[in-house]
Amino acid sequence: MRKILVTNALPYANGPIHMGHLLGYIQADIWVRAMRAMGHEVTYVCADDAHGTAIMLRAEANGISPEQQIANVQAEHMRDFAGFKVDFDHYDSTHSDTNKARAQEIYLKNRDAGNIAVRPVTQLFDPEKGMFLSDRFIKGTCPKCKAEDQYGDSCEVCGTTYNATELLNPKSTLSGATPIEKSSDHYFFKLPNFGEYLQKWTRDEGRLPVSIANKLDEWFDNGLNDWDISRDAPYFGFEIPDAPNKYFYVWVDAPIGYMSSFENYVKTKRPDLNFDDYWKKDSDNEVYHFIGKDIVYFHALFWPAMLEGANYRTPTGLFVNGFLTVNGQKMSKSRGTFIKAETYLQHLNPEYLRYYFASKLSDKVEDSDLNLDDFVQKVNSDLVGKVVNIASRCAKFINTKFDNKLSATCAEPELVQSFIDAGDSIAQAYEAREFSTAIREIMALADKANQYIDEKKPWALAKIEGEEQQVHDVCSVGINLFRQLAVYLAPVLPTLAEQVQAFLQLDSFDFASRQQILLAHEIAQFQPLMQRVDPKAVAAMVDASKDSLAAPAEAPKAEKKKEKKAAEKKPEPKVGEAEIIGIEDFMKVDLRVAEVLEAAHVEGSDKLLQLTLNVGEAEPRNVFSGIREFYQPEDLKGKLVVMVANLAPRKMRFGISNGMVLAAGNGDGVWVISPETGAKPGDKVS
Ligand code: MSP
Ligand code: ZN
Repeated sequence: MRKILVTNALPYANGPIHMGHLLGYIQADIWVRAMRAMGHEVTYVCADDAHGTAIMLRAEANGISPEQQIANVQAEHMRDFAGFKVDFDHYDSTHSDTNKARAQEIYLKNRDAGNIAVRPVTQLFDPEKGMFLSDRFIKGTCPKCKAEDQYGDSCEVCGTTYNATELLNPKSTLSGATPIEKSSDHYFFKLPNFGEYLQKWTRDEGRLPVSIANKLDEWFDNGLNDWDISRDAPYFGFEIPDAPNKYFYVWVDAPIGYMSSFENYVKTKRPDLNFDDYWKKDSDNEVYHFIGKDIVYFHALFWPAMLEGANYRTPTGLFVNGFLTVNGQKMSKSRGTFIKAETYLQHLNPEYLRYYFASKLSDKVEDSDLNLDDFVQKVNSDLVGKVVNIASRCAKFINTKFDNKLSATCAEPELVQSFIDAGDSIAQAYEAREFSTAIREIMALADKANQYIDEKKPWALAKIEGEEQQVHDVCSVGINLFRQLAVYLAPVLPTLAEQVQAFLQLDSFDFASRQQILLAHEIAQFQPLMQRVDPKAVAAMVDASKDSLAAPAEAPKAEKKKEKKAAEKKPEPKVGEAEIIGIEDFMKVDLRVAEVLEAAHVEGSDKLLQLTLNVGEAEPRNVFSGIREFYQPEDLKGKLVVMVANLAPRKMRFGISNGMVLAAGNGDGVWVISPETGAKPGDKVS
């Protein structure tokens, strides 16, 4: 028996749980249930992530204290998780005394080990609010293209990234005041001290999905930077020891919440468990964090480094889920696809969603789509049409004709045994988080069971005198097959499993229990198990989501973004990982064929070539292109290329660039995209 601690990412205490969140929570809950069904001892904890500026401001906007704000949201989160049967052993908050003590202890150990530095940082300060402003709370005019109303980190019009202090005419979005530059001491965690350690750690067997480890390599190649872990008052969080008015940045004490939630669980409910058994350096027990792909950086770099620096064990592995889209697009309030957990539960059975997610999930870091038509179709055909149907076809005969008792002998021992044997590979698939494989195998069994019943036709046999035994035998086999399916689906469908367990009057529903075929066994009266999904209910849910309030505040996302930027340049997304855009977004890009009239080196730049392009307009265009390392000017002259013709002109040190030439690249090389001969300058590319 393995002893395993499982956590989910701690949701922010400033917004409701939505479908996107649920992907990772349902995934973890299924895994926990499956591992328990295989006989392992699993502890499953979570907490609200309660600190930070966004939560502080949200409380202020709601006219309540931050403590009241986080208590309200925590109650909602716990209600929603319970509604979806995400069954944590313990749900805590990072705003707890235990977490404060742990955070301070881990900080002090790192400080004593020489992993903390202090130095001044100049930032924009809102003199009216009396607080420093993160980039998300500053807007002004882009220093490059002069577009107005741009955030403090980058321009959405020309894509330039800059420091907030470079914005022209900056304004605080909190008060409208003009921010002033102000310096104050910041505390830094010296991440580079752990460079070698992390490079090895991230490559340890099973630690991370390989695709993520590869991505991290790019970060290592760019070099790690110190991590700014302090925020000046006012801030809702924990004070840093020996540093008056300085608070831990929320991402310091957030993951420590994994430890303190477990610690509080042990203290309040499980004296038989021991904190050290799970967290001391040489612990043999396993610790896994389920997280979304957007927060890998914190979990694969800062978190293990902080733990190592404080002489604790690090997680055995990180399980990373991709992002959820709804109907192929980013969740959107205007389309009604920003669906809150609460709204879903008002309209639909949570087990439908658990099943749909399971049918999509694998151990890969891939995005998943909740396509609502496919959702209705799949649940109705698989769960209602295939699985539940087996029971309803067989149970009524056992209930009415055979006094609720199954046959004393098994008429199809090989068939039933084949279902039992299939459980080994299904269990393996669950353990490997290959849920979609598990579901496929289970549905193949369901098809086989239905085929058997279709062939035997107990409803026809029941009308023939002298065939009672046959009817009894066939229906008993059917119930036995159904029982196997229900055991296999139990981690995904806990409520259905409970109902089936009661109906079959079984003491245990774990994986090992399936070995015992049910003979001369008494069952209860059959009750309808699961209704079809009503497409009208789905439509009503989407409708209700259209006016539902409060998307999660944007601030935390921005902080995550900034964090990544501060440390390294973000690597290119892998194929399929880029943000999904609609055709209307794509159509905004005016792509044209252009002929290279001139190509020349640029004095003072080892990256750029200057291109003169004929795009079929009266005047040729001047474009600077970063392809000098890969092309000689003469290779390009006379060539047809594809360009973005409606890109805002960009002022560069060498002149104005008026468009962009498309090229493919993969780190090893760059290849300019060229249409086949026959295309003419100015032709539209689509
Ligand atoms: N508070 C941090 C996590 C701290 S862990 C020490 C946070 N919170 S969150 O509320 O923004 O996100 C909680 C989890 O939901 C994260 O794992 C995040 O990746 C995940 N998701 C949020 N939106 C999601 C989708 N649209 N799709 C899939 N997962 C998503 O990050
Ligand atoms: Zn700009």
